[in-house]
This record gives sequence, structure tokens and C-alpha cells, in this order.
Amino acid sequence: MQITLDTRPFDALETEALVSYIFEDGDVTQGRAAELDKLTGGLLGRLIKSGESTGKALETTLVHTPAGLKAARLLVIGAGKREQFTTATLRKVGGVALRYLKSRSVHNFVFSVREGDATEEKAQAITEGAIAADFETDKYKTEKKNNKHIESLAIGGYSEGERAAGEKGITRGRIIAEAQNFARDLVNEPSNKLTPRILAEKAQAMAKEAGLEVETLDEKKIAELKMGALLSVAQGSVEPPRMIVITYNPANPKPGAPVVGLVGKAVTFDTGGISIKPADGMEKMKYDMAGGATMLGIMRALAALKPNVKVICVVPSTENMPGGRAQKPGDIQTAMSGKTIEVLNTDAEGRLILADGIHYAKLLGATHLVDAATLTGAIVVALANVNVGVFGSDQAWTDKLLASAKAAGEKMWQLPMDDEYREFIKGSFADIQNIGSGKGGGSITGAWFIREFAGDTPWIHLDIAGTAWNDEAKSWLAKGPTGVALRTLVHLVMSL
Ligand code: BES
Ligand code: ZN
Ligand code: ZN
Repeated sequence: MQITLDTRPFDALETEALVSYIFEDGDVTQGRAAELDKLTGGLLGRLIKSGESTGKALETTLVHTPAGLKAARLLVIGAGKREQFTTATLRKVGGVALRYLKSRSVHNFVFSVREGDATEEKAQAITEGAIAADFETDKYKTEKKNNKHIESLAIGGYSEGERAAGEKGITRGRIIAEAQNFARDLVNEPSNKLTPRILAEKAQAMAKEAGLEVETLDEKKIAELKMGALLSVAQGSVEPPRMIVITYNPANPKPGAPVVGLVGKAVTFDTGGISIKPADGMEKMKYDMAGGATMLGIMRALAALKPNVKVICVVPSTENMPGGRAQKPGDIQTAMSGKTIEVLNTDAEGRLILADGIHYAKLLGATHLVDAATLTGAIVVALANVNVGVFGSDQAWTDKLLASAKAAGEKMWQLPMDDEYREFIKGSFADIQNIGSGKGGGSITGAWFIREFAGDTPWIHLDIAGTAWNDEAKSWLAKGPTGVALRTLVHLVMSL
């Protein structure tokens, strides 16, 4: 999809569809809305007065051959309450526009921003919204909807003076959203098409193309390095594990600057192992590598955005299978750090592979850690599919992430990590156990387990089990992988 900036006035736009947005107050007497209303002989005012358009967030009204315009259609989208309108709303409105028009076989459209919205940030958001909305999960369908694709989107409402800012926003938005779709593509792959070995190959190819340093540890190297926690999960499968390491080196590194370690869980399929999961819904466990995919996508974006910060990405990848050699409840494993772990539940495998991933990232020089993982079903109980669960060992570092989440328009909510919860994972027969012995707080005990391996290094854990997968299509996003946390973490690194 081509995305350009268009500075022409409304009545000069020859397009299949012109898109604009209105607020719930129904006020079209000012700025761009007034201009459009006047040109169309009061059309906007009539739509609102009749009650057909209310401005309610993401509501759509389509008018064919609107008088006064060269555009074949006018699509009016609700943007909600004017005082609550944010860049995040506009990102969604952009996504809704694309999916609405694409499904109606439109091939090109102009999305015109309102007065005050002709900024770099808003152009970036519309671009991100549109590219993410364009992602479909029909890769393995033999009959594709061939005629349904958007060829070009022009972002309008900018003056010539605002062109440079708008175009900068488009460029940045494209880099970020294409990285997000790269991650979603990986998450969408079923486990027979994406084993740890295949994931490592794809990561390698991406890194080479992006000009990033990459090294994959195979099962032999993993054993040599004594990554016992990762190996314990992998031993139940015939597919060997991989530890993917990608490094971004800035051109002019500042001495003493932070080195960010991004660690992502990539269990390409989680059966639960011997503590096997119920059959119902187990097919979804192909997305148990979403944390790893997100981190790979971030590296792809950073290679193009070129921040002045070193970033080390570590992705431990394995299947969690109940094979004949699988670990069993009660088994005691020694992690790479030397800590011993009592595996009380083989389905709490994500924290095991992250233990070695985190430790390895520290060995490679990471001074600030973030991990992302589809770690617990309990986070769905706590926050449903709305917020990412955030856990941190250092409030200043965590606050930076929460600020980036806000700026990137991703909902994240910090949960507590009181010392009391740490008691839950004290081991009876080893240093720690991989599930809590107390009742409840499953996401927090999971976080505490990982934190044991981060030690004093400032660390954040993102539990994306509830947010990495859309069970139902939204009007701005397809059903399936969401690519959540990518935009936030790109923003975080860029802000350092
Ligand atoms: N991959 C799952 C977590 C998960 C659940 C992801 C639902 C996405 C949707 C994880 O490995 C797991 O099985 N966690 C267990 C932990 C428990 C045994 C302490 C869980 O949440 O049930
Ligand atoms: Zn599991
Ligand atoms: Zn899992």
C-alpha cells in the first residue's frame, strides 16, 4: 500500500473515497468540518441532525457521490468525545477507514485530518493504524479475496508548510507498523510451520536483511552453556530448542549509556507438557511465541530507526511437549545462573526459558531488561484482553515504560510485586519452585520467578497472554495476532 501526503483542498480530491471524522458534540461549524459541510451543501449537518451520524467512536456513515466533491464517496467516522480525543483514537479511526473501505472493494482513499491534527505524530498514527488494519490472516486460504486490497492512501488536511512533518510521520509509522505486521505474521504461523529451528532461520534472515548482528545457539551450544532451564522444557520434544540473539549497535555509542536487553518467550507450541492442558482451546497455544516475535519485530524497526542505544534481543525458543523424555512434576533443574528450580508444574514453562534468557542477556551486557511473554492465564482473569500486565523491579525504569505505553497508545497496567508474593515461590527441595504455593496471584508469582534471575538489574516483565491475540475481529484489526507491546517498546528505546 502506497501512503502519501496530500495538500490539495477537499474539492480537488479525485478519489474513490474521502474520509473525515466528527465528534459527539455534532459541531461542524468550525475548521475543516465547516469547510467540508459548506462544500457539500450542508451534508454533514444533515447527517448529524437526522441522527444518522452521532460522532460515537468508530461509527461509520457512507455517502455515495456527495454533491460538491470529486470524491466518489464520503466516509464519515465517529471520533467520540472531542475532549477525550487522542492520537490513539485517530490510529483506530484510520484502521476503521481502511477495513471499512477495503471490504467494499475500494482501492484508494484520502484520509483528511481535522484542524490541529496536521502533525507528524498524527500522520504516524494514521499510517500505523492503516498498515496494521491491512494485515490479514488468510495466508493459508487457497481462495483469497483478490479484488479486496487498498492500493493507495493519501493523508490529507496538511498545508505545504506541514508537509515535511507529515511525511516524517508517514515514514516512521510505516517502519513501526510493518515491524508489527512482521511479528504478527510469525505469531499467525501454526506450530507445524514454525518450529524453533524455523523461527531461528526467519530471525536470521530478517537480521541479515536489516543489517543486524545475529547469532543462534543450537541445542549443543545451549547444553554447553548449561542453560538447564531452557533444556528442561525442550527435552520433551523431538524438535531441538534455539536461543536467538540479535544485537543492534548504534553508530556513536555513548560511554556509560544503558544497554537494553529485550527477552521474549517463544514457545512455538505449549501443550503444557506432562501437566497437559485440556484439549478445548489448545490450538491457540501456537501464539505462545508472541513475546519472542514482538522482540524480533522491535529489532527490525530499530535497525531502520537507528536509535543511539545498544539493544540486545534474546529469544529462547522451544516446544513444550509431553514426550517420553519430558520433564516431570517434581523434577529439579539447574538454570544457567546456577539456581536450582523445582518444576512443580510443567505448564509453567515460560518462566523457565526466560530464566536462562534473562541471565544470558545480562551476561551479554544488558543493563536494563524488558521481557515480554504470554506467561499466565491469570493475567486474563485480572485484566481481561484489555491491558498488558506490567511488573517491575525498578520504578524509574517502569515509569519510563508506562509513559511510552501512553505515547504509543497501548493499554498497560502495573501490578504489585510486594515481597510477600516472593514467599509463594520459595522451594521446598530446591532454591525456588516454578509455581506459587499460596492461593491466587498467579501472574505476580510468575513475575517474581523471572525477577529472581534479573537480580539487581532494572527489569520489567510484560504479561501479554491476554492481549497478544484477538479472539474476534475488531473493526480496525483482524482476528488473531495483535503485535501488542511492539510500539511501546520501540518508543521506549527511542526515548532513551
Ligand atoms: N502459555 C501459558 C499461558 C497462557 C494462557 C497464554 C492462556 C495464553 C493464554 C503458560 O505457559 C501457562 O500455561 N501458564 C500456566 C501457569 C500455571 C501452571 C502456574 C497458566 O497460566 O495456567
Ligand atoms: Zn504453559
Ligand atoms: Zn506457555
